[in-house]
Amino acid sequence: MATHPFLLMKNIEKSFNGVPVLKGVTLQVEKGEIHALLGENGAGKSTLMNILGGVHQPDNGSLFIDGQEVNMLNPRVSQEQGISFIHQELNMVSDLRVYENMFLGSELRNKVGFLKVEEMCEKTHDIMTKLGVDVDPKEYVRNLATSYKQLIEISKALLHNSRLIIMDEPTTSLAEHEVNRLFELMKNLKQSGVSIIYISHKLKEIKEVCDRFTVLRDGERVKSGSVEEEDIETITKLMVGKSISQDRFIHEHQFGPVSLEVVNLTSPGLFRNINFTVKQGEVLGFTGLSGDGRTELFESLFGYRKKYTGEVRVHGRIVKIDHPRKAVKAGIGLVPKDRKENAIIKDLSVIHNMSLSSMGNFEKSGFIREQTEKAKFQKYKEMLNIKVHNPRITIDKLSGGNQQKVIIAKWLEVGADILIFDNPTQGIDVGAKQEIYHEITALAKMGKTVIILSSEAPEVLRICHNINVMYQGEITARFTGEEATEEEIMNYATGSKREAAKIG
Ligand SMILES: Nc1ncnc2c1ncn2[C@@H]1O[C@H](COP(=O)(O)OP(=O)(O)OP(=O)(O)O)[C@@H](O)[C@H]1O
Ligand SMILES: [Mg+2]
Repeated sequence: MATHPFLLMKNIEKSFNGVPVLKGVTLQVEKGEIHALLGENGAGKSTLMNILGGVHQPDNGSLFIDGQEVNMLNPRVSQEQGISFIHQELNMVSDLRVYENMFLGSELRNKVGFLKVEEMCEKTHDIMTKLGVDVDPKEYVRNLATSYKQLIEISKALLHNSRLIIMDEPTTSLAEHEVNRLFELMKNLKQSGVSIIYISHKLKEIKEVCDRFTVLRDGERVKSGSVEEEDIETITKLMVGKSISQDRFIHEHQFGPVSLEVVNLTSPGLFRNINFTVKQGEVLGFTGLSGDGRTELFESLFGYRKKYTGEVRVHGRIVKIDHPRKAVKAGIGLVPKDRKENAIIKDLSVIHNMSLSSMGNFEKSGFIREQTEKAKFQKYKEMLNIKVHNPRITIDKLSGGNQQKVIIAKWLEVGADILIFDNPTQGIDVGAKQEIYHEITALAKMGKTVIILSSEAPEVLRICHNINVMYQGEITARFTGEEATEEEIMNYATGSKREAAKIG
């Protein structure tokens, strides 16, 4: 009996509006294998998966599933073939309940056509428990945090008896323990013969959970191989085409005066007794696990949340920030996390998304000069290597990472004195991360105050002069960039250590 791979995509070609995005890509995935699909932002990963999921039709090439050639794929046929797709962008319907989202399009009904609500809730509950998620199946999705939405998206794929699961950056909003659960689950699925295609920019994850890999660059396959046989540096080099250093980016220089001082900031249930100061020219990091309160803290400082007590001083003056407008007036800018939900306007062009800043909304003049706009866009396009052929197309046509780059560009341009970046490099490839770190360092050098919120300890270690660690709404430790280590940060972020003296 001839053996065949579970999936073979052969010489796949795809162009959008005459621009080739996949130039004859071949991908082979065995049964019971976890296969990493890697590449820079815009390399073509999601497009290739959209073809497998039946969302896009290829212009050329052939596709075999379990040795059989499949000619017409659409989302339904793809699902019938046992392929489940966890999309990069979340596809939840906010106004539906958790279980309704889970069973959307495949509702369970009894003989006379009534919905079997309890059974759907039970099934939802079972899968969620396996993932370690504690959520009421009858809760409305709009009330859930983004990480939960991502977990529901994953659960949905597990609902069907899949033979192949595509996971397109499933862990971007997950906390570490949630990621670990997912990995356990993936390993179990693999044991039972399910194949998984795994897309992520976090190369440590790839090392941990994947068996083989394929690297795409500019729509072409660069290499496939065994994960065990390559180190992270080599894989990075295959993706980017050059070596990327893991050096720290901290620029040592004299800080200016204190720009922001926070005294005893407390918001019941979210954070308490927060005290810190940050100076002009300083890059200050806040890290911790999800649920540590850092996002809520800075949403309050930016005026999105009003119910807090304590004092905020900007350049020595007490300010009462109860609306983003006031924050902006005080010279504070916030780049929110979770791009799709908070930062982009889908129906607007790339270039307008970049020039339309949240600040712009508050400015009196609505007149945008096209030439400056274009020049600015060109500058960031080159600096951050934004892959877009025509900046007039709507932003949702850009790859996930390239959308994020546009958002970052917009805020680099805004010119606030105090810039807060929440999870800035979510979904960004290793090369572009480097550029963003350069830009952040440059802002600090210019005398701006930069605050970085990140769940990734290695990230704050690389770019911050000083680091605050949070746990359950409190600052549990402060480190200078030199003294901090990943391990020590973890100790304080998980609450297994607290050092009162340090947080004085
Ligand atoms: N519907 C579309 N219309 C026009 N161009 C598109 C469309 N979908 C994707 N593209 C383009 O195809 C290229 C590849 O995009 P794709 O989403 O496959 O990248 P990716 O490898 O998934 O990147 P990322 O890591 O940023 O998610 C990009 O240049 C993108 O702008
Ligand atoms: Mg993608």
